[in-house]
Amino acid sequence: MNLLIRNGTVVNADRTEKADVLIDKGKITAVGTGLNSSNSDRIIDADGLLIIPGGIDPHTHLEMPVGEIHTADGFYDGGKAALAGGTTTVIDFVNPLRGQSYLEAFDEWMRRAEKATCNYSFHVTVTWFDRQAAEEMRILTESYGVNSFKHFTTYRDTIMLAPDKMLQSFTHARKLGCLSTVHAENDEIITYLQQKLLAQGITHPKGHALSRPPLAEAEATSRVIALARIARAPLYLVHLSCAGALDAVVAAQLDGQKVYAESLCGHLVLDESVYFAEDRETAAQYVMSPPYRTEKHRQALWNGIASGAIQTTASDNCTFTQSNRNRGLHDFTKIPNGSPGIEDRMRILWDQGVGQKRITEEQFVAATSTNAAKIFNIYPQKGAVAPGSDADIVLWSPTKTHKTSARTHRHAIDYSVFEGMTFTGSPHMTILNGGVVFENDRVEVQPGQGNYIPRRPSA
Ligand code: URP
Ligand code: ZN
Ligand code: ZN
Repeated sequence: MNLLIRNGTVVNADRTEKADVLIDKGKITAVGTGLNSSNSDRIIDADGLLIIPGGIDPHTHLEMPVGEIHTADGFYDGGKAALAGGTTTVIDFVNPLRGQSYLEAFDEWMRRAEKATCNYSFHVTVTWFDRQAAEEMRILTESYGVNSFKHFTTYRDTIMLAPDKMLQSFTHARKLGCLSTVHAENDEIITYLQQKLLAQGITHPKGHALSRPPLAEAEATSRVIALARIARAPLYLVHLSCAGALDAVVAAQLDGQKVYAESLCGHLVLDESVYFAEDRETAAQYVMSPPYRTEKHRQALWNGIASGAIQTTASDNCTFTQSNRNRGLHDFTKIPNGSPGIEDRMRILWDQGVGQKRITEEQFVAATSTNAAKIFNIYPQKGAVAPGSDADIVLWSPTKTHKTSARTHRHAIDYSVFEGMTFTGSPHMTILNGGVVFENDRVEVQPGQGNYIPRRPSA
């Protein structure tokens, strides 16, 4: 397929220019003015539209098992939701059980992703660490295309890793040329508060927010930054959500430490008051960790994105059906954690970021694709509209409005945490690997049309 996009404005993270874009066999072959259309199968008029790199969502959980349930969005539906929202690549997570072979778990996740409708790559979670784990991390890096490993400071019963093991894992990952990423919340504070709240008879989902205060995140963030410093390892904080955690990140960055931070689209627009809805079913829909925060923290996150202290934005798309959530209606600690967002992330960033003049159009591109591509070492293959890059492109309308609703979204759940919100700025067309997959508000894509994207370690 050979496409020519004409009359648009190309926006990359470093510049904006009036230019045409030529696509051939899945690659961008030229960007410039007056490009020739003689061999084109299709000429697309992008008048009034921005031509931007396909979004990269560096944090999703598609078809993720949790005990006997799993997230509702799989790689097929979740991929379609991503494409409708302008995201063409996701970096999902392989979560091995404690003691399970990392290679075996990786193969399991690759099988789950066989029907993927968008491009995908995998971080691998370090749930146990010894010589065998270290060897499997090496194999994953050298032969499976993994260059990032995730760690949890919480969820003690399942995937939490002790600080001494984390230090060893950070050191090993650094030697492999890989990036260590962390979900940072203080597990002791959370467990203590959960038990205290339940003992007081607080079983309503609001207990989720009350038991995971910003201080729990700020403390754990400072702690893992210290561990990374001792390990001389680069560090990436997933879903940073509060001012105290951001202060710790900025202090480390100013001190010369390589620390990156990600914020979630949900944390940028939703308020902690959602947990205090009287109706338990409604309040339970918002349970995710860290919880949604107050205005003060949202403002800090936006300032972090604008200043560059926070480099990436993600969805942490992790959808559970209402009936799965209802298992914790009378004990908030039993509600499975996670929110949707894969379809909404870029609209939120544009509407609340560019629309509110918090960030420029170029910063929008940096925060939705380019920075993730650079940090996870797939730039300029991804994250750029440039000759030689993969033809993952979005024709973005800065004026199209979209009202979010569970009735129209592509997620496999029957509620939306963004229900009723209207965002201005939305994809007009999405191109995946050189083919048009979203136009006229319809996603047309085949199962398996998404490619696995291996990522090389850093030198
Ligand atoms: O609540 C969340 N974020 N669920 C997904 C798993 C994780 O912690 O990232
Ligand atoms: Zn997390
Ligand atoms: Zn997550």
